Amino acid sequence: MRRLLLSLGSLIPFLPLPSEAKANCPLYGPLFPRPTNLLHDPVVKAVAATLDNVFVEHIDNDTTTGSERYSYSVEVFTGSEDKPLWSHYWTAPSLKNFNSTGVTRVDSNTVFRIGSVTKIFTVLTFLATVGDEIWNDPITKHLPEIAEIARNASGDPILTTDWESITVGSLASQTSGLIRDYALLGELSYQLNLTDLYNLGFPPLNASEYPPCGSWPTCERKQLFAGLARLPPSFPPFMTPTYSDIGFVLLSYVAERITGKDFNTLVKETVLKPLNLNHTFVEVPEDSLGIIPGTSRATQWGFQLAEESATGNMYSSAGDMSSLGRGILRSTLLKPAMTRRWLKPSSFSSDRKALVGMPWGIRRIELVKNQTYQFVHTFNKVGSLGAYGCLLAIIPELDIGFTVLAAGDLPASLTTAIAETLADTYVPTLSYLARAYANATFAGHYRHASLLSSSNHTTPSPPPFANTTASAPYSNSTLPAPPLNSSLTITVHPTAPGLGVSAWLSNGTDMAFVAVAINNNVSAAYLDQLRPSVRLYPTGLEEKLSGGSAGGGKRVAFKAVFEDVGPAGLDPREEEEASFVTDCATWVGVTAVVYASRPLDLFVFEFGEDGKVEAVVNEALRVRLVKVD
Ligand SMILES: *[C@@H]1O[C@H](CO)[C@@H](O)[C@H](O)[C@H]1NC(C)=O
Ligand SMILES: *[C@@H]1O[C@H](CO)[C@@H](O)[C@H](O)[C@H]1NC(C)=O
Ligand SMILES: *[C@@H]1O[C@H](CO)[C@@H](O)[C@H](O)[C@H]1NC(C)=O
Ligand SMILES: *[C@@H]1O[C@H](CO)[C@@H](O)[C@H](O)[C@H]1NC(C)=O
Ligand SMILES: *[C@@H]1O[C@H](CO)[C@@H](O)[C@H](O)[C@H]1NC(C)=O
Ligand SMILES: *[C@@H]1O[C@H](CO)[C@@H](O)[C@H](O)[C@H]1NC(C)=O
Ligand SMILES: *[C@@H]1O[C@H](CO)[C@@H](O)[C@H](O)[C@H]1NC(C)=O
Ligand SMILES: *[C@@H]1O[C@H](CO)[C@@H](O)[C@H](O)[C@H]1NC(C)=O
Ligand SMILES: *[C@@H]1O[C@H](CO)[C@@H](O)[C@H](O)[C@H]1NC(C)=O
Ligand SMILES: *[C@@H]1O[C@H](CO)[C@@H](O)[C@H](O)[C@H]1NC(C)=O
Ligand SMILES: *[C@@H]1O[C@H](CO)[C@@H](O)[C@H](O)[C@H]1NC(C)=O
Ligand SMILES: *[C@@H]1O[C@H](CO)[C@@H](O)[C@H](O)[C@H]1NC(C)=O
Repeated sequence: MRRLLLSLGSLIPFLPLPSEAKANCPLYGPLFPRPTNLLHDPVVKAVAATLDNVFVEHIDNDTTTGSERYSYSVEVFTGSEDKPLWSHYWTAPSLKNFNSTGVTRVDSNTVFRIGSVTKIFTVLTFLATVGDEIWNDPITKHLPEIAEIARNASGDPILTTDWESITVGSLASQTSGLIRDYALLGELSYQLNLTDLYNLGFPPLNASEYPPCGSWPTCERKQLFAGLARLPPSFPPFMTPTYSDIGFVLLSYVAERITGKDFNTLVKETVLKPLNLNHTFVEVPEDSLGIIPGTSRATQWGFQLAEESATGNMYSSAGDMSSLGRGILRSTLLKPAMTRRWLKPSSFSSDRKALVGMPWGIRRIELVKNQTYQFVHTFNKVGSLGAYGCLLAIIPELDIGFTVLAAGDLPASLTTAIAETLADTYVPTLSYLARAYANATFAGHYRHASLLSSSNHTTPSPPPFANTTASAPYSNSTLPAPPLNSSLTITVHPTAPGLGVSAWLSNGTDMAFVAVAINNNVSAAYLDQLRPSVRLYPTGLEEKLSGGSAGGGKRVAFKAVFEDVGPAGLDPREEEEASFVTDCATWVGVTAVVYASRPLDLFVFEFGEDGKVEAVVNEALRVRLVKVD
């Protein structure tokens, strides 16, 4: 069950690409404002109903998937709604054979082990308490035990870790070069008895060489440091990402040292409590809250990682994991700029679609096939421990995420296969809705007030933004204004990114032509071949206006990209093979044209109290164009 095939063809029209013209190169980020009010959207409801059937038919009711032996919870959440967009819970029929001390029926509150998804809580706790200013500090500055190990270290660079070059941030981003574990996982002397190991070809060693602790008994702090002193590195720091559990344990130690508090207390006080995650636990909770498909020992429900908790000990429910995801999307616990830094890659990987973050695996998902420049990123973490599997994914550009929790006799790829189906479903749905919302909100004709015929012109009420200095000089809509032949049209194309600007006249001049020609430094000889394209992308900059009883309007800034789409573009194959030649580097040309300190690529839409767009202002042209239809 790699992927559940799912056809939403009737719900979401996929239209062909515009022919010939060079593909637009958007700025990286959301291509449209994020759609809201999704719970009531008929497309979202239709998709949810389809998914109900797909999951029942292709997993729950399908005897070939092994679903009689595992239970799972799935939720799809968005930052703009408190309730999930979709959820599905399945209880394994085999659960009743176990005399389980846990729940008999799985729901949103059922607690699972989340394994390494704990690392998200660890990084979030660190960011919320210590912040990311110290990411570049060497860990020796904050951990005296490591500083001592570093001082004593022998000179052999192959077997000795370069502790001074390992930074706090590298622990979170899997770039410290530390090996994965000390004795917890992978240490053969904990997995097989020595006689068996000798028979397999491993040499007998002095007893002192074997770790005194590991998966059972787990290491105490002192033993852990003694062990670290003996471990060779995998790589020098920042060479290549290599998954390391130890990194997150050390990260928790740094937070403890700086705050003077126990890490579990920090997690509870700074993350669980503020986000109201009352079904999330740093240590094993009461059995009655959890799904326990077998004995506590066989399922590892009760196994405690003790000192190494920060890397994988936690327990959570689907409802709480979705709340965590919402908290990240909404930046509830961090300053928005810190969340934006956090939701970025730290390193490459060998898969061109995959990058590595803190502690995210990041994947690039194409939005429009063969249009190489439209994509979103999903920030994921998977975990597994004993009978449990977990996945949390967040797609910031679309403001959605997925929670998958599973317990029982799990097929290896269950959580990722479910996430794959959710991505196949919700990525096109949400990008379709964002486009449709943008079409309904912004598309139309905008004209200077002097062009509005007096017969159908109703005097606008005093603009709610009159009190803002930015728009005051040219927001005066008092009539009659001197005649000014300025106007533009906003369109939304079925596949092109962003809001299209067409028929853009400024005092009678074709401004799209002027903007693209100046922005791209076009020679006079080329002018007749120029094919200007002006498209607008959300910047995230906006001003809420205090106003009347309805709560006031807002001003929302978009950035224009001025492109010449005249020359035939590289086809996607050429683009993939090229080393330096590119058709998509528009970020380099942002705000290349400024008129008296106001950017020509800055467009500000004015929303009224009713949530409708009233006008658009181009800052360089200092003109307010009223939306007429
Ligand atoms: C799943 O199985 C149940 C019980 O046999 C049945 O009532 C239901 O219609 C089935 N649903 C689907 C979508 O196959
Ligand atoms: C479950 O409990 C019942 C009744 O106490 C007992 O007969 C049965 O053997 C138990 N099953 C298991 C798997 O422990
Ligand atoms: C470092 O060396 C000192 C002096 O030889 C010794 O006392 C201490 O135990 C060593 N520390 C570690 C962590 O190996
Ligand atoms: C090691 O395991 C083998 C079977 O795999 C068993 O015969 C032997 O007694 C075990 N040795 C010890 C020391 O436990
Ligand atoms: C084992 O210990 C003995 C005595 O302590 C020592 O002479 C020997 O070199 C050690 N062997 C290994 C492989 O470390
Ligand atoms: C747990 O949190 C949920 C969601 O906020 C809330 O409805 C519920 O009352 C809380 N339960 C307890 C026991 O605090
Ligand atoms: C994408 O490109 C491939 C190879 O060039 C082609 O076979 C395929 O039909 C294209 N798909 C679309 C949707 O244009
Ligand atoms: C207002 O008048 C103009 C010019 O006659 C016309 O194009 C436009 O559609 C009218 N708008 C409305 C809302 O009636
Ligand atoms: C204009 O802004 C100032 C300062 O922000 C505020 O004190 C004043 O009440 C505002 N006036 C109106 C009419 O909103
Ligand atoms: C519009 O401009 C006129 C003349 O400059 C001025 O008297 C009036 O206060 C302005 N109105 C607003 C809403 O800014
Ligand atoms: C935009 O809305 C118009 C009018 O409702 C519709 O005709 C057009 O198909 C829509 N375009 C897109 C891309 O949704
Ligand atoms: C419009 O263009 C005319 C002719 O070039 C010029 O005199 C006038 O000042 C311009 N007005 C504005 C508001 O740009």
